[in-house]
Amino acid sequence: MDPVSTIMEIGQYIGQGVTLRGWLHNKRSSGKIHFLQLRDGTGMIQCVVVRGEVDDDTFSLCQHLTQETSLMVHGIVRQDTRAQGGFELSVTGIGMVGPSVDYPITPKEHGVDFLLDHRHLWIRAPRQRAILRVRSEVMRAVSDYLDGQGFTRVDPPILTPSSCEDTTELFETSYFDEKAYLTQSGQMYMEAAAMALGKVYSMGPTFRAEKSKTRRHLIEFWMIEPEMAFCGHEENLKVQEELVSHIVSHVVCTCAVELALLGRDVEVLKRVRAPFPRITYDEAVQWLNEHGHEVSWGDDFGSPQETDLANAYDRPVFVEKYPTAQKAFYMQPDPERPEVVLCADLLAPEGYGEIIGGSERIHDYALLKSRFEEHNLPEEQYAWYLDLRRYGSVPHSGFGLGLERTIAWICGLEHVRETIAFPRLLYRLYP
Ligand code: 4AD
Ligand code: MG
Repeated sequence: MDPVSTIMEIGQYIGQGVTLRGWLHNKRSSGKIHFLQLRDGTGMIQCVVVRGEVDDDTFSLCQHLTQETSLMVHGIVRQDTRAQGGFELSVTGIGMVGPSVDYPITPKEHGVDFLLDHRHLWIRAPRQRAILRVRSEVMRAVSDYLDGQGFTRVDPPILTPSSCEDTTELFETSYFDEKAYLTQSGQMYMEAAAMALGKVYSMGPTFRAEKSKTRRHLIEFWMIEPEMAFCGHEENLKVQEELVSHIVSHVVCTCAVELALLGRDVEVLKRVRAPFPRITYDEAVQWLNEHGHEVSWGDDFGSPQETDLANAYDRPVFVEKYPTAQKAFYMQPDPERPEVVLCADLLAPEGYGEIIGGSERIHDYALLKSRFEEHNLPEEQYAWYLDLRRYGSVPHSGFGLGLERTIAWICGLEHVRETIAFPRLLYRLYP
């Protein structure tokens, strides 16, 4: 029996017989020869079936093979510098595993709604597979980097009794006799964990019932949330820029083939090196007014504003110290100017918008308690969070990096919906 190989590892078997297992991506035939494009998840290879070199049954089987039929293909590995991947398989035998009749996603153009309805099949397309590979490498880069910096991974709960961010965007569900909400952010739990372990991070799904139908919004998206004890605003930004630089350079290194397939200009990504430029909210307001936007101090920036601002730079830019009134209740005010908080949003270039939101957290018990009153938040539900300020409270900071927006930017995609295997979008829960 020939050894089973993957397409990626086939170079070890030049001149030898192997068995490949995969799916038929495409087929071209002339009278005497079939060219089968086989993919197996590790790569794509051309398998050449010549009449006379295989038995007649095998040759006629090939005549009827359709897109996405699953196959075992036996053959001899040939080196061929002209071939994609550098190798070809001279087929000696074929076994069909599962037929595929009328595969709905044909090489012609399909509308995005049709593709989303068939997302379970669409992920087999080369572009989609490339994006999912990049996603996996982004995750790897995050854990490699943070683990290497002495962070401990902690997993916060998905079902929570209260909200972390804006209460209007909560998904409610029942928890026996109580109400529960799907987490919007693990941050508060990560603050507790930072007091136990020093430097921690989470990586997991978060949920926002946002009625936004934009290229940047998902209903279910993943966040990376580091939290650091004894860490101020400045150090927080340093960790963010180092992490983002590491992610981008790791992807450029490990995903050259995928980025090329996606048509991404890698030179643009190579410029993404720490330190990143920083401007204050005040400077951003001034810049926007000088560049055709009308914004008053205190306004939130919309996506056209963020896009124009970010396009003024060749790498992500921090906008720091937003108005206190605009931001979440837990953010530490600037001691010199309490009307602004020690926070920053990191805006990606090329219109991808905010990829990180982060801040120093309030560590003073009395101040945090007064914020609960100002924001009309039920203090009983947050008693445990206040406890963190009663027992050895320390200055601490953290941030949330939106995984899908980061991937959309790195891959140069039009929409975040392609960055996750099964996107949850406004009014779309299927498949
Ligand atoms: O700025 P946000 O809301 O920050 C927080 O939730 C903090 N509690 C995080 C923390 O400090 N630990 O969200 C963080 C990031 C945003 O910058 C954005 O990249 C992403 O999460 N994000 C979304 N991504 C896709 N779809 C949505 N609906 C998103 N909402 C936020
Ligand atoms: Mg934000």
